[in-house]
Amino acid sequence: MVLQRLWVKKTMVRKFRLAVFISGTGRTLKNLIDRIRAGQLSAEIVVVVSSVANVVGLQYAEGESIPIEIVERSSFDSFSEFSDANFSICRAARADYVVLAGYLRRLEIPKDFENRVLNIHPSLIPSFCGKGYYGNIVHSKALEYGVKVSGCTVHFVDQEYDTGPIILQKAVEVYEGDTPDSLNDRVFAAECQAYPEAIELLAQGRVSVKGRVVKIAPPKDQKRGDSDIDF
Ligand code: GRF
Repeated sequence: MVLQRLWVKKTMVRKFRLAVFISGTGRTLKNLIDRIRAGQLSAEIVVVVSSVANVVGLQYAEGESIPIEIVERSSFDSFSEFSDANFSICRAARADYVVLAGYLRRLEIPKDFENRVLNIHPSLIPSFCGKGYYGNIVHSKALEYGVKVSGCTVHFVDQEYDTGPIILQKAVEVYEGDTPDSLNDRVFAAECQAYPEAIELLAQGRVSVKGRVVKIAPPKDQKRGDSDIDF
């Protein structure tokens, strides 16, 4: 299998261009905007695509004057046409990566966007994931099962729900007396670190994929294990 070094060309001299896809509250979008503003993420958001009109999250794009596109599934006859419309926007915006941020639609990933679409899921995949696992359902199922550790997973998106190669995971302890809301708060705090960290690793050209295994190269002049990126 060929080792695929991901999208490194010119990324060291220009900002990484992100298309951010939302469906709702946009907390993930807001976090990315905040990180970029704080200079912690060498990226820019070139377009925000929403699968639902008038969602709360769009206010964050408006606040930053980021172009907005609404692409609703109901406007298209087929799943393929719906997916094509989304990726046409990303090509026109010259996005390097598509960042799913609370986006609730499945997409058909075209060849030119293979391993260029990211998602964050609020559990340690492969637990509590797949079709129907979103929002507090994930945390309710984790609590019902009695796990002692949960967390979040940043992964590449393939043609199924939550099955693509894992880029990074952050674990969160589950406490006795946790509710779905309290666990969600703790996991979301971990997400706010994990997603920008994964994007920054991509921007630095340190991520490669072999089969379904992702490798993170150490930074130049640094040994593996000495983490330099600390969100
Ligand atoms: C989080 O649970 C995240 O794991 C999932 O969407 C939720 C955030 O949604 N991908 P939003 O950013 O508040 O819309």
